[in-house]
Amino acid sequence: MAEPRNYNDIRAWSVVRAYLSAASKYPWFFTAAVIATLIVEGENVLEPLYLKQVVDLLSKGTPTEAVLIAIYTALGIYALLYFSGWAGRRIASYLTVELEAEVIRDLFNTSAATLLAHSHEFFISNFTGTLTRRVTRYTRAFESFFDNIIFNFLPAIFFVIGILIVLSLKSILLGLGLLAWTLLFIGIQYAMVRYYQPLRIERSAADSATTGTLSDAVLNHATITTFASLDRERSIFGKVVDHWYTATRNSWLSNNYIAGVQGVLVMAIEFIFFVLIIYFWQQGTATVGDFVLIQAYLTILMDRIWGIGRNMRELYDVFADATEMLDIIELPNDIVDAPDARPLAVREGQIVFDHVRFEYRDGQTVFEDCDITIAPHEKVAFVGPSGAGKSTITKLLLRLYNVSGGAITIDGQDIALATQESVREAIAFVPQEQSLFHRTLMENIRYGRADATDDEVIEAAKQAHCLEFIERYSDGFDTMVGERGVKLSGGERQRVAIARAILKNAPILVLDEATSSLDSESESLIQDALAKLMQGKTVIAIAHRLSTIMHMDRIIVMENGRIALSGTHTELLSQESNLYKKLWEIQAGGFIAEDEDPI
Ligand SMILES: Nc1ncnc2c1ncn2[C@@H]1O[C@H](COP(=O)(O)OP(=O)(O)OP(=O)(O)O)[C@@H](O)[C@H]1O
Ligand SMILES: [Mg+2]
Repeated sequence: MAEPRNYNDIRAWSVVRAYLSAASKYPWFFTAAVIATLIVEGENVLEPLYLKQVVDLLSKGTPTEAVLIAIYTALGIYALLYFSGWAGRRIASYLTVELEAEVIRDLFNTSAATLLAHSHEFFISNFTGTLTRRVTRYTRAFESFFDNIIFNFLPAIFFVIGILIVLSLKSILLGLGLLAWTLLFIGIQYAMVRYYQPLRIERSAADSATTGTLSDAVLNHATITTFASLDRERSIFGKVVDHWYTATRNSWLSNNYIAGVQGVLVMAIEFIFFVLIIYFWQQGTATVGDFVLIQAYLTILMDRIWGIGRNMRELYDVFADATEMLDIIELPNDIVDAPDARPLAVREGQIVFDHVRFEYRDGQTVFEDCDITIAPHEKVAFVGPSGAGKSTITKLLLRLYNVSGGAITIDGQDIALATQESVREAIAFVPQEQSLFHRTLMENIRYGRADATDDEVIEAAKQAHCLEFIERYSDGFDTMVGERGVKLSGGERQRVAIARAILKNAPILVLDEATSSLDSESESLIQDALAKLMQGKTVIAIAHRLSTIMHMDRIIVMENGRIALSGTHTELLSQESNLYKKLWEIQAGGFIAEDEDPI
C-alpha cells in the first residue's frame, strides 16, 4: 500500500511536457496569464524607482514649485503603476482559474478514458483504489503545478531579472552581488530540500500506511467483528500511527531547519547591502532614495524567494503524483485492434479453437495445443476440475487475452483480426463472478442493451426471475444495488447477469457457472428461461453441477488444459469408467450439497 517515492522514479520533464501540452490547447489564456504576471512584476520593479524619486525630492528640503510638480508627477506614476499591478494580479488570477478548470476537465476525461481502455489483465493486477487515486492526483496536481508556475516561479524569475537590470545600471557590483546571493539562496534551499528528502519520503510512506491499514481493516470489518479482534486491530493501527508520528514530526522539523538557514542568509544580504549603500553614500554616488529603493527591492525579493523551497517541494509532489499516472498513460495496451481490423460478421456462430496455445503472463501454460470446434447453434458444456482452464476458454473467446499460438475463429474469421468491439457484441457473457454498477437495478439490467425500453428490461428481468426479489424493494427497479452489487445476494446478482444476457440477445451465449449460486428451485426455473434463450444460438456453458448441462448437445470434459473426453451425456455415461462418470456418480444424479466442488 505504501508507495515510497524516489527521485529516480520521477520523470519531471515528461510531466512538464504532458501538462504544458494539455495547457497549450488554451494558448490565449496561457499567454495572457504569463503577460499579466510580467506586468505585475514590471510594477514591482518600477514602483520602488518612483518611491526613490519621491524620497530624493523630499530630502532636498526645498519645496519649490518645480520640486512639488516633480513629486506629484512621480506620485502619479506610482499610483498608475500600483493600479496596473492590481489589474495584472486580478487578470492573472482570473485567467488561471479559467485555464486550470478547463485543463483539469480535459485531464479527467483523457486519463479516465485511457485508464478504462486498458486490458482485463491490467485491472486484475492493479488495486482499484490505487488506480482511481492516481487519476485524481494527476488531474488535481495540475492546479498546484500551474499555481506554482504563475504565482511563484515566473514572478520570482521576472522580478530577479528586473532588479538585476536596474541595479546593474546603477552599479555592476550591486547587480552581480545580488545575483550571486539569489543563486546561493536558491541553491542552498534546493540542497536542503534534497537532503531532507528521505524524511519526506518516509512521511509519505507512513501516510499511505495509515490509510492502507485503516482501509484494510474497514474492508475486513466483518472478519474483525466475528473474530472479536477489535483490540488486536487497534494495537496494529496504533503501531502504524506511532510510526506516522515519528516520521511526520521529523519531516516537519526539517522545514524549521530550512527556515533557520534562510533567516541567516536574509540577515547577511540586508547587512551587506546596508554597508555597500553607506559606502556608496560616502562616495557621493548613493542617495537616501537609493537606500529606500534597495530596502523595497529586498522586501519584495524576500517575498518572492522565501517560499521557493516549499514551492520546490510542492512541485516535487506534483511530479511524483503525475508520474504515477503517466506510467499508466504511457503503458502500451496489451489488447489492441489490428491495424486493418474489420467488424466481425457473425452468420451462423461457428467457433473454432485452432491449435491454441496460451499462458497467463506470470503463470504456467494453461493450453499447450487446444483444438475445439463448435458447430453453428451447437450447445456445448465444459466441465472439469477447478483450475482446468474452463473460464480461460471464455476469456480467450472474448479476447480479454491474446492467444500466444494458434487462432480462435468465429465463422472463419480470426477474432484477433476483427475489432474487439464487434467480437464482444457478438457474445452474451454471464461471468463466473458478476459485479454490478452502483446504479439502479433498471440501469444495471439495461446494461445488456443500452437502447432497451423499460418494458423490455422488465420482461428480461421477469424471464431471469429477478422480479421475485426486485418487488421486495420499495423502490423496485429504482433500487441502488450498492458498490459492486453488495446489497444483492450472490444468486440475485447472477439473475441480474442472466437478465442482461437475455436483453443482449447475441448470437453466441457464454455461461460460466451462470446458475451456481442459485438454490435448486430457482435454478430449475431459470433453466427454462435459459433453454429459451439458447434457442438458435451457439452456446458454451460451464458448470460444476452436471444436472444443469446433461441435456446439452455435447459435453467436453477438461483436465489440465486438455480435452479429456467429449460426447453427449448418455455417450459419456455408457463408456467404461471415465472422469465424467465418476463426477456423475459422486453427484448422485445431480443431488449434491450446494457449493461443494465435485472433485
Ligand atoms: N489472471 C490470471 N493470471 C495467472 N494465472 C491465472 C489467471 N487466471 C487463471 N489463472 C490460472 O489458470 C488456470 C486455469 O484457470 P481457470 O480460471 O480457467 O480455471 P477454471 O477451470 O475455470 O476453474 P474453476 O472451475 O475453479 O472456475 C488456473 O491454474 C489458474 O490459477
Ligand atoms: Mg472458472
